[in-house]
Amino acid sequence: MPPADPGTPTLAACLARRVTAGALDPGLARVVEALAACTQRISTLVGRGGLSDILGSAGQQNVQGETQKKLDVISNDMMIEGLAATGHLAALASEELDHHLPLPTPSAKSRYLALFDPLDGSSNIDINAPIGTIFSVLPAADGAVGDEAFLQPGRRQVAAGYALYGPATELVLTWGEGVDVYTLDRACGEYTLTDTGLRVPVTTSEYAINASNQRFWEAPLQRYVAECQAGSSGPRGRDFNMRWNGSMVGDVHRVLRRGGVFLYPRDNKLPRKAGRLRLMYEANPMALLAQQAGALATDGVTPLLDLQPTGLHQRVPVVLGSLEEVERIARYHAPV
Ligand code: AHG
Ligand code: MN
Ligand code: MN
Repeated sequence: MPPADPGTPTLAACLARRVTAGALDPGLARVVEALAACTQRISTLVGRGGLSDILGSAGQQNVQGETQKKLDVISNDMMIEGLAATGHLAALASEELDHHLPLPTPSAKSRYLALFDPLDGSSNIDINAPIGTIFSVLPAADGAVGDEAFLQPGRRQVAAGYALYGPATELVLTWGEGVDVYTLDRACGEYTLTDTGLRVPVTTSEYAINASNQRFWEAPLQRYVAECQAGSSGPRGRDFNMRWNGSMVGDVHRVLRRGGVFLYPRDNKLPRKAGRLRLMYEANPMALLAQQAGALATDGVTPLLDLQPTGLHQRVPVVLGSLEEVERIARYHAPV
C-alpha cells in the first residue's frame, strides 16, 4: 500500500514547524509527541485483537470501583512508560491511578502535567467496537506537585485531544487554536494531517444518550429527549436520529465530525455521583476540543471549562455538541 501524499505533513513536521515559528514551546511539543507515540503503540496492540492477550478482565478494580479490563491496565502502563522520559512532565494522573504520579524533570522550565483516560469505552474492547485514549495537558507551577496541582479549570489546558481506535486510528488535537485531525498511516507508522480547522454544525437533528437511564434523569433532560423523540409531530417540528457508541471518544468524534449533541447527564441513579464521566481526563479535554470547533460543552448550565475542579476523579454531567442544542438544554434548566 503506498504511503499518503508526500506533501501531506506528518505530526512530527507540524510540531517542528510550530516550534520553529515560535508558536509552540519545545517542551510541550515533546510532551504531545510522546502522547501521540503512546497512542500509536496502543493502536498496534488493539489492532491485533484476540491475537494478543489483551481481551477480557484484569480481575482487579480501579480507585473508582470499576473492574479493569486487561487493556485498561496495559494501556495505562504504556502511557506511563512512554511519558516518563519526556523530561518536561512534572507529574501525570490517570483514570487508572488512585493519585498523581510524580516524574523527574531535569529542567525547571517548561514543566507540564498530563492527565489521561488510557482506554475509553472499556465495554467495547471485547466486541471489537470503537475505543480510544483521551488526554489533557496543563501547566505546572515550580516546585513539588500534589494531586491539588491538577485541579485547574479546563480553560487552562495548553493541549488536549484523543486517539480514536476505529477502522482508522485518528488523533484529534487542539492547542486552543482550532482542531486538527491526524490519521495514522500504517504504511509508514506516522500520524499524518488529514483535516484542519474542524467546525461543528450549529444546527443538528442527532443526539446521543444512554436511554436505559431515562427513569433516573432530571426534568430538563426528560423534556429535551421527549421532544426529540416526538420528532415532526412534537414542538421541534422535525425528526431526530439517535446514536450511542458506548465510548465517549466514538460519540464525541461523531459530534465533532457531523454535529449532534452528546449527553451524559446527572441522574438520581447514583446519588453520590454527579454524572458518569470524569471532569479532569474525559470531560475537560473534550470540552476544549468542542469549544475550539465552534461547539459547546456544559454541565447542563455552566461551561465545563469554567468549573473549578475539586478532585482528580470528580464526575460531572456532560452536555456537549452543536450550539443550538446545548443552549436549548441550558434554557430548559433555567428556573421558571
Ligand atoms: P471508561 O471506559 O473510560 O470507564 O469510560 C466509559 C464511559 C464513556 O466512554 C462512555 O460514554 C460511557 O462510559 C458509556 O456509558 P454506558 O455504559 O452508560 O453506555
Ligand atoms: Mn472513559
Ligand atoms: Mn478508561
